[in-house]
Amino acid sequence: MSRRAEPTPVDEFDEKAARAELKRLAQAIAHHDRLYYEKDAPEVSDAEYDALRRRNTAIEERFPDLVRADSPSHRVGAAPATGFAKVTHAKPMLSLDNAFDEADVRAFFQSVRNFFRRPEDLERVDPASIEVAAEPKIDGLSCSLRYEHGRLVLAATRGDGVTGEDVTANVRTLRDVPHELHGSDWPARIEVRGEVYMERPGFFALNGEREAAGEPAFANPRNAAAGSLRQLDPAITAARPLKFFAYAWGEAAAPIAETHWQALQRFRAWGFRVNPLSKLCRGVDEVLAFHRDMAAQRAELPYDIDGVVYKVNDLDLEERLGFAARAPRWAIAHKFPAQQAQTVLKEIVIQVGRQGSLTPVAVLEPVTVGGVVVQRATLHNEDEIARKDIREGDTVTIQRAGDVIPQVVSVVMERRPRSSKPYAFPQECPICRSLAVREPGEAVRRCTGGLICPAQAVERLRHFVSRDAFDIEGLGARHIADFWEDRLIRSPADIFRLDYEAISRREGWGEQSAAKLREAIDARRTITLDRFIYALGIPQVGQQTAKLLARHYRSLTRWRTAMEQAQDRDGEAWRELNDIHGIGEDTATDVAGFFAEKHNRQLLDDLLREVTVAGYAGARPPADSPLAGKTIVFTGTLTAMSRSEAKTRAEALGATVSGSVSGKTDYLVVGADAGSKAEKARALGVKTMSEEEWLALAGR
Ligand code: IVH
Repeated sequence: MSRRAEPTPVDEFDEKAARAELKRLAQAIAHHDRLYYEKDAPEVSDAEYDALRRRNTAIEERFPDLVRADSPSHRVGAAPATGFAKVTHAKPMLSLDNAFDEADVRAFFQSVRNFFRRPEDLERVDPASIEVAAEPKIDGLSCSLRYEHGRLVLAATRGDGVTGEDVTANVRTLRDVPHELHGSDWPARIEVRGEVYMERPGFFALNGEREAAGEPAFANPRNAAAGSLRQLDPAITAARPLKFFAYAWGEAAAPIAETHWQALQRFRAWGFRVNPLSKLCRGVDEVLAFHRDMAAQRAELPYDIDGVVYKVNDLDLEERLGFAARAPRWAIAHKFPAQQAQTVLKEIVIQVGRQGSLTPVAVLEPVTVGGVVVQRATLHNEDEIARKDIREGDTVTIQRAGDVIPQVVSVVMERRPRSSKPYAFPQECPICRSLAVREPGEAVRRCTGGLICPAQAVERLRHFVSRDAFDIEGLGARHIADFWEDRLIRSPADIFRLDYEAISRREGWGEQSAAKLREAIDARRTITLDRFIYALGIPQVGQQTAKLLARHYRSLTRWRTAMEQAQDRDGEAWRELNDIHGIGEDTATDVAGFFAEKHNRQLLDDLLREVTVAGYAGARPPADSPLAGKTIVFTGTLTAMSRSEAKTRAEALGATVSGSVSGKTDYLVVGADAGSKAEKARALGVKTMSEEEWLALAGR
């Protein structure tokens, strides 16, 4: 990418040039609006966007006769929010695991059943008769409403689940959201959660108005709801037909019910709308019937649903089931089948990932699938293209299910152009031209350019600043590519040493936007350990694995020391890493492998001169927990709890659960028929506990 020419100053324009520039700006701003409002995927920072609008206004002021009918300055409220305050949720807002068919649903109920051991529990969790609240899964955006002493004090979007955006002023304009809870039997502090959504008739009417005003239409009701909630001016939100259904809660100063169903009734009494289609079911067969019923009603409902949600009704069971890394164990979303459409595949382009993988992507003739305009679809890898014999120019069937990336299902052979040729997968990196090789047994071809490949470098940096990593706003993909090209940013640490003077002189930048970028970057000089680990982009280390590592090691120094020691594959540190539940040997190899590379260690040292890594920010155990900070190992068969319930409980109490006994073990809990671990513990002088003693300590 080359440096763009400096823009012509506004006072040097003649009429002809001004007209051309106004046209260009109108198109550019409409394009960015579309990306921002409909795709929620802006390519430029808010600062750059603001600069375009300011330039447009300045030219219009000089040439009032040239103001276009579709001028961006006619559009009130189109300016994107320059940012809402971030709020950390008192309790994280997790998402749900998905079930796609009956077998998945049955497996879910079986896993609930297998979590428990006691006879009195087993009666309540029998898949044939378990009580389950079944609710339509509304396709909107979730929102958490915090009430203190019955008053609405904060409304926040889900964001990444840990931090969201403060949208209180906007949410106050929703008729479905009481400013004060009705009645008086509510806890002093309660977070009511649910879905903000837009009904289809309101959505069509809104799009009609927008089109009449020359504004871009929203792609679907969900995007319209999100765009409406994220308005800086609450008056605009107020004019949009937004609705709210309550279906969950976060922090509560006191228990609100014994069952989910009762909780819903309480929400209703407090003045919320609760979906009247929700149903209290008994047993798997009843929930499956509910799913069929909702699928049949779907088209007639005034709002979009993309499936149904099942929730274990008994809140005591729910609490004990707790959460896995990403989603609760007590609920699941049963999605409706994917929706399909046909369109022309215009071109196959290759994307280079941060580890050099070459991923083919289909560029499509835009088509609407289930209310969403699709323009690109993943093709996975070269075997997939060969297996389906997908070619450029083909008419293809694509499908999308919920929020997953659209896929190419098959080729409509009857419509294949005669001239078509099989697709030849490139043997070299399209960016750096290095050889791209495919290791035996691997599905992906990788660029061998390594550190010299700009695509890989830029992708690594993009990952580094992405939302779930350092979350640096205003440093978009295009900036990174430009800054990389101009050698302003070559390594992660460079981001924190930018020359803002130089940036403010660049095309599209100014002092203000450079200062804003500096602010955004400086705001991220302190980061939690899990985000930091994730940001490093170690192969196979996604958000979940990063969280597992952070939760286990708790501080960067401890993790780093352990990883350096883990280079010794016979040592304790390597075993400990492999023992972390959820980390397999492959992942452990990659994690330890990262520290084997000198340039990675240097990158870390360099980065740590710029940023501070705070400890793990996950849920804190109760301060008085006797197990806080202890390492505990379970062995033998437990009678009152399954192994996973025991583990969940131990972790909730702040303990780390390990699979093997070592010098670092604090307690070994010995169930029936325990084997060699008990002997080893005795030899090492580790304290052992019976199951009864464990139950007394775990408080159940
Ligand atoms: S319960 C921890 N209930 O689906 C459980 N979610 O895929 C929290 N959603 O983020 C969610 N209708 O935005 C729940 N009846 C319902 C829902 C629902 C829609 C959305 C919600 C959530 C997403 C998870």
